[in-house]
Amino acid sequence: MCGIVGYVGPRPVLDVLVPGLTHLEYRGYDSAGVALNVGDRIEVIKTAGRMSDLEDLIGYFEGDVISGVGHTRWATHGAPNSVNAHPHTDASGDAVVVHNGIVENWSELKQKLIESGHEFRSQTDTEVVAHMIGDLADLPLVEAVRQVMNEAEGALALAVMRRSEPELIVGARRGSPLVVGRGDGENFLASDIPAFLEHTREMVVIDDNRVIEVRPTSIRLMDLEGNEIEPEHRKVEWDFEAAEKGGYDTFMLKEIYEQPKAIADTLAGRVSQSGRVVLNELEMDDRLLRAIDKVFVIACGTSYHAAMMAKYAIERWTRLPVEIDIASEFRYRDPVLDSRSLVIAISQSGETIDTLEAARYAKAQGANLIGVSNVVDSALAREADAVLYTRAGPEIGVAATKTFTTQLVAMQLLGLYLAQVRGTLDPGAIEVMVRDLTLLPGQVEEVLEISDEIRRLTGQWSDVNDYFFLGRSGDFPVAMEGALKLKEIAYVRAEGYAAGEMKHGPIALIEKGVVVVGVATDSHVKTKTLSNMQEMKARDGTIVLIAENGDDVGDVADHVIKVPEGRDLLCTVTAVVPLQLLAYHVATAKGLDVDKPRNLAKTVTVE
Ligand code: F6R
Repeated sequence: MCGIVGYVGPRPVLDVLVPGLTHLEYRGYDSAGVALNVGDRIEVIKTAGRMSDLEDLIGYFEGDVISGVGHTRWATHGAPNSVNAHPHTDASGDAVVVHNGIVENWSELKQKLIESGHEFRSQTDTEVVAHMIGDLADLPLVEAVRQVMNEAEGALALAVMRRSEPELIVGARRGSPLVVGRGDGENFLASDIPAFLEHTREMVVIDDNRVIEVRPTSIRLMDLEGNEIEPEHRKVEWDFEAAEKGGYDTFMLKEIYEQPKAIADTLAGRVSQSGRVVLNELEMDDRLLRAIDKVFVIACGTSYHAAMMAKYAIERWTRLPVEIDIASEFRYRDPVLDSRSLVIAISQSGETIDTLEAARYAKAQGANLIGVSNVVDSALAREADAVLYTRAGPEIGVAATKTFTTQLVAMQLLGLYLAQVRGTLDPGAIEVMVRDLTLLPGQVEEVLEISDEIRRLTGQWSDVNDYFFLGRSGDFPVAMEGALKLKEIAYVRAEGYAAGEMKHGPIALIEKGVVVVGVATDSHVKTKTLSNMQEMKARDGTIVLIAENGDDVGDVADHVIKVPEGRDLLCTVTAVVPLQLLAYHVATAKGLDVDKPRNLAKTVTVE
């Protein structure tokens, strides 16, 4: 989720790049940089930190710039420091690259480059691209980029410059966004429209697997075979704010819709063709993982719901006992930890003080600590013995959505990895689950199509103030998350409960006017959940059921929301999406600001 800007034209280049990057800061903000083609050399200025830090450095630059590219980074490979910040250059400094996405086969490509004498300065996947372009100096730049696109796997949006062709920027796109802004005698290349909206409303859409030459007065688009393609022109009708939100009304809705891509990024390079989980990045010795005799998962809020799912997954797949704790409670119950304990701390921000302190406590007791975080080099990442990043990209809406579904996927990957290392699932079973994991982005895409149906449904509930979300087994954390989303953004009372527990007390609250949302996707308990829902219906609750396509749920529900058929536990990822949409539509129908709910902060750094 980085931001790219490129400019060729008569304006002072930095006057385009700096505001353009500032408008893209919502895409990533751990480091930033620009590369300026001044004809006889390419000047690179970059730093860790935000755009304001970069601007301080740029203040010292003097010279006439012909063209330039810039970047705001959201780290995926390598810590957010000035060396890893983009742009990256080849060995000679003549070719320069900015990149958004993940080069999945980067370590293989890097190895080849090292063997042929290249020296690497950064820990990024992007530097691989810079060296590859450098090696192709004899080819026209567009051909070199096309060749790199054919060799590099994964999601790539690139903007590339060469010293010897100062009036040219070459862009390329696969899986990550890139658009051209068309001006009069000038052109812009960017990850997103806000970067150039103050200069032009004319744009050219770049489809996946395209390479584009951008010069001041022309653009040339081609596919990866080199065939020229007629560009598709469009006029931008959005204002600035709408453009930042990608045309969505809110960041939360945008982030809900980003989930298919975010999940694909979480999986990228972590599952092999042969159906194995590849988590080399964990750098935790297999012998150590085999010696573990107990697992603890600690987290807060939404991340705690991912921890709940993780307990089911790790216990089911590895037969290791797993305890889960709300992080703020963990230290105070005197947990029994030692060097054979594995503690997994989940925190999207990696800065939540409750989780951090719990993680520090676990380490101090001699436990092994894995951090699961969305923010590269966060405090949790630095504290942990090993880190698994969720790669959801920055989340601006206060309510967690894409960071939750990517946490679920990351924990599923980790659970399968532990099973693989410890030999508790046979390779065939892992292969089948890995295949099903790769189906998730498409399945979430399908669920997103029912947003209008959910909006119409929730439109009938303007007077409802009592909700229950019920589920059992893997559906229980989904129910908990559905209730939390509704509470925090729609300000209504919503309880998440284990469906089977209702009869032990809370069922007394069910009466006409109470909406009861049941989640019934886990095959072990579906029929039991349906019976529990019958009990709610008998008390006059309004029943909504989340069920899988193909399931016969009888007449228990007033409304059934169908999600694609999926494997147990993996299905949590698809089942929670309708609940995010449900909370969203209830809240927006009440005119509430879902991006900034009252009393909440995105990152909670107080105990
Ligand atoms: C809810 C939400 C919070 C966070 C919680 C932990 O939508 O976002 O409940 O999940 O504050 O935050 P992290 O994951 O950053 O530790």
